[in-house]
Amino acid sequence: MGERDEEFQKAKERHEFLCREIERHNELYYVHAKPEISDYEYDMLVKELEKLEEKYPELKTPYSPTQRVGGRVIDEFRAVEHRVPMLSIDNTYNEEELRDFYRRVRKAIPPNEKVTYVVEPKIDGVAISITYRSRIYSLAVTRGDGFKGDDVTENVKTIRSVPLRLKDSAPDFLEVRGEVFMKNDELERLNQIREEMGEEPFRNPRNTTAGTLKLKDPRQVAERKLEVFFYELILEEDQTSLIKTHVEALEKLREWGLPVNPEWKICNDIEDVVKLTNEWRERRFSLGYEIDGLVIKVNEHRIRDILGATSKAPRWVIAYKFPAEVARTKLLNIKVQVGKTGALTPVAEMEPVKLAGTIVKRATLHNFEELSRKDIRIGDIVEIQKAGEIIPQVIRPLLEFRPLNTKPFLPPEKCPECGSEVKKDPEGVFYRCLNMDCPAQLKQRLQHFAQRRAMDIEGLGTALIEQLVNKGLVKNIADIYRLKMEQLVQLERMGKKSSQNLLNAIEASKNRPLSSLIFGLGIRHVGQHLAEVLAKHFGSIDKLMKASIEELTSIPEVGPIVAESIRDFFSTKENLQLIEDLRNLKVRMEEETASIEEGKNILKGMTFVVTGTLKNFTRDQIEQKIKSLGGKAVSSVSKNTDYLIVGESPGSKLEKAQRLGVKIISEEDFLNMIGEKVN
Ligand code: IVH
Repeated sequence: MGERDEEFQKAKERHEFLCREIERHNELYYVHAKPEISDYEYDMLVKELEKLEEKYPELKTPYSPTQRVGGRVIDEFRAVEHRVPMLSIDNTYNEEELRDFYRRVRKAIPPNEKVTYVVEPKIDGVAISITYRSRIYSLAVTRGDGFKGDDVTENVKTIRSVPLRLKDSAPDFLEVRGEVFMKNDELERLNQIREEMGEEPFRNPRNTTAGTLKLKDPRQVAERKLEVFFYELILEEDQTSLIKTHVEALEKLREWGLPVNPEWKICNDIEDVVKLTNEWRERRFSLGYEIDGLVIKVNEHRIRDILGATSKAPRWVIAYKFPAEVARTKLLNIKVQVGKTGALTPVAEMEPVKLAGTIVKRATLHNFEELSRKDIRIGDIVEIQKAGEIIPQVIRPLLEFRPLNTKPFLPPEKCPECGSEVKKDPEGVFYRCLNMDCPAQLKQRLQHFAQRRAMDIEGLGTALIEQLVNKGLVKNIADIYRLKMEQLVQLERMGKKSSQNLLNAIEASKNRPLSSLIFGLGIRHVGQHLAEVLAKHFGSIDKLMKASIEELTSIPEVGPIVAESIRDFFSTKENLQLIEDLRNLKVRMEEETASIEEGKNILKGMTFVVTGTLKNFTRDQIEQKIKSLGGKAVSSVSKNTDYLIVGESPGSKLEKAQRLGVKIISEEDFLNMIGEKVN
């Protein structure tokens, strides 16, 4: 065997090992919730695999963990007929209806037959059917109308908990069904980003999941973290004797590497089932994802066969739907909030009321169009609901309780904060305050500018901004850099020490990467990611300012609306003045290319926080190191932090990182990561 062949053989073995190893860790994480390695170590395995496939592209297999994101954009989803229809489930809404189901089952079978029931959470997501051929992931289809669905194979492939290859013990051909869903905190994360981009937030996880599965670009799907639990398998004729109960099916699914919701229980009679429905009434809110009821399934397949199905739904299964979490309360006032871009949002202030496990006194009314359509008035008794159990919203006024002399609530003609003109968006449903200096807008813009993900000015938070603007000390963003010690010490809760700390933080922010500045300016539709793209493409604010629409739209991530918005921003006199002022105040306006170590941009796109004392670096040194390798070092931990580096006697950041699920690494891990020797 030639040297090259030998080398290739070795690479092939390593490739197979890495694929198996990554799959094993995926399974430990998603199926058994018992990870053995840190996220960092996992990422390193994937990286190694990527490198190997780069060198030997012929090693790539369709089920390699690197192939989750195919990158192909889909024109239209192909319709696929289900081999076995995906029926729906009949619903029940109370104990009586549940007992009716039980009686129907009992009546259809011999009196001495023992029947048990499996109760599972009814996840509020999107049903999916997945087919494995030769144990390899090959097709994913939505439920559609039950007979035909959409081929979403590429999109579902991006979901990390969907195995790309099943265990050898799995049958050669297998169709499984389950629910794709999104956890509440993922929805929250996406909405934070949308808010930044000036886009309307998603209303609930179910719609977001459905919308995500229908995105044409699998790369976008991969950016939204979807999850899946499987709950049914379709047995082939010759397999029916293999699996006799639902419990066995759930166990087999797990055994073959498919994630199953561990929250199922077996019940011996209807009394147990009723008890469970009561237990779940409150518990449902602690799961971290939406469930809208429970599914009660006959366990024994033999009895399922006796019961059969109607044309719509099997007779062996029933859904118990929780009573809708709706509350009534009095609408005391409608407040109009002014956002960073001047958008006016009506917010309901209500008499406090308990809803879905929390006390609610404010709810969003979304926008004036919706407010007028629903005709919600101050003084009304309203019904409120939690959409996706996250953002409370007002559903409708109860007209039978409407007091006399109420008036429809109209959009204000003048901005409630500064009194200047208000205009309706030509393309949207928003009304906006057009005054750039509006104090409400200014406060939002300052907050946006100072936040960690932008210029990262530690200590410049909401309360301080409130004071600075109200006292007239800050009239625009540039004024931050003109603040003096004498001014700061006069403010509430600002001693000499905290004032000095703030001044230091302001000074330090002058040297942030260009992308932080671009993001911090708060240009509509320019979020953190796009800011990085723009910084990289243009390299300086000046070049970005001069860019034509054509040049902007030539960047793949920039569409015409975004380009227009960037042009608009840099055509406003006030904004041009702001850039000039920031330049004179010595805020960095160029990409710091020189100091990034040549060809060593290995920490690009990663955000680090450090806590505790390190052995090899001072705080400044490690921050410099991170930056020089293209990473970002920030002062506090958030969901957007990629890694927390932990030294001796760490502070509260460690606990926060654990809570948020941020990857925690040691100084040694960090040194390994950047390829430096551990001392
Ligand atoms: S079993 C024929 N189990 O509820 C039975 N469905 O309203 C097939 N769902 O379309 C479904 N959690 O999308 C089953 N544990 C669970 C479920 C579940 C959620 C959804 C599923 C189905 C819908 C019916």
